[in-house]
Amino acid sequence: MGMRSNTSNVIREHCKELQLSDDQISEMMSRLLEDIQLGLGKNTHQKSIVKCFVTYVQDLPNGTERGKFLALDLGGTNFRVLIITLGEKHFDMKSKIYAIPQSIMLGTGTQLFDHIAECLANFMKEHNVGEERLPLGFTFSFPLKQKGLTKGILERWTKGFNCSGCVGEDVVQLLKDALSRRNDVQIDVCAILNDTTGTLMSCAWKNFNCKIGLIVGTGSNACYVERVENAELFDGDRSKPYVVINTEWGAFGDDGRLDIVRTEYDREIDQHSINPGKQLHEKMISGMYMGELARLVLVKFTKQGLLFGGRGSDLLFKRGNFFTKYISEIESDKRGSYVNCRQVLDELGLSHATDQDCGNVRYVCESVSRRAAHLVSAGVATLINKMGQENVTVGIDGSVYRFHPHFHDLMTEKIAQLVTPGIKFDLMLSEDGSGRGAALVAAVACRDQSRRHN
Ligand code: GLC
Repeated sequence: MGMRSNTSNVIREHCKELQLSDDQISEMMSRLLEDIQLGLGKNTHQKSIVKCFVTYVQDLPNGTERGKFLALDLGGTNFRVLIITLGEKHFDMKSKIYAIPQSIMLGTGTQLFDHIAECLANFMKEHNVGEERLPLGFTFSFPLKQKGLTKGILERWTKGFNCSGCVGEDVVQLLKDALSRRNDVQIDVCAILNDTTGTLMSCAWKNFNCKIGLIVGTGSNACYVERVENAELFDGDRSKPYVVINTEWGAFGDDGRLDIVRTEYDREIDQHSINPGKQLHEKMISGMYMGELARLVLVKFTKQGLLFGGRGSDLLFKRGNFFTKYISEIESDKRGSYVNCRQVLDELGLSHATDQDCGNVRYVCESVSRRAAHLVSAGVATLINKMGQENVTVGIDGSVYRFHPHFHDLMTEKIAQLVTPGIKFDLMLSEDGSGRGAALVAAVACRDQSRRHN
């Protein structure tokens, strides 16, 4: 008896709609590529769905960056303030996590930026740099139309944020305004960047082949190194050959182009989200939604009498109660063992589950996470093929990639099937891209500034 015997055929049958066929994947890849091209094009950008924002990051780190930097990291699971010292061979980093209550995530922009400024000021005083004027890199993980390295207009909020008065505004200015309202610390904002860019930079510091930055966390997005001639909207230094593009692929499908693979579960997730109709690709992939997707499948199967003898629980039936980390826990059980699975089910008031139920629950989780991994792989392969480089490293961060026991392997296998024959790739976990990457972008900017001044 292998583990297979603990997944019933009916459950397998009902999970089929969560499987992506080769044809669906290749269709998605060509659509994504088309959408990326529309995002890059001067005459098509405005109407495009996959925005492909120019980041103004043109130089990857070369290892000579030095100094003491502050960084802010907003937009993942946590808000963090960091102080980073880049040295000859090593770097030193101290950071603190601050909570952002939901009332602030859904409040006014002034409240949000006052809160950020307060955390930053407190942090600086605690680390005895309250009197210094330090360069700061701001990792702001939302779609920004950048006008320069230190100017970015918020296009829309995504994930769990929806603060009033920020869309259409320059986020760096909002931060500066909040700091001048307090008037107790001085900073020098050197760069604003996306978390994908930070991830790319932090991997590129060690690995010169790193040309793609990927996040599979609360949200999902990727950036890559593009030739300047293809970035038609780029109005920066066109004498340099490359510029990093933030694809914002989370929005892929917002015009219906993903409907070929979306299911009733995806539609329900979207309808109950704070941004219906938006970020449809991200909603099929990322940690903010994955647990809920699994829950919706489990609820449906329970109501059909396929699970738990048809007896669910109030906890299972309540929105948001099946956390994405449960999927990682359940899939971490050794084959045929259900220790974690039973613990999760106990927490949900489902201790009457049989071994067969556990096998089925695991299968549902696997179906949801495998689909996410395949969607991400299709995206990564699209970028790799577009870049056409022989050897590419993908720097990756985010809670799903980091904590899911099989995500890396699922991706490696799928991408290998999808890339142009002959291309080699590597998937590399980024060490704290949002923090260190912010310092590196700031450092590279300073490096260039001081060169100009000399
Ligand atoms: C969302 C944001 C994007 C970010 C991603 C990962 O998709 O719009 O900017 O990179 O989440 O955090």
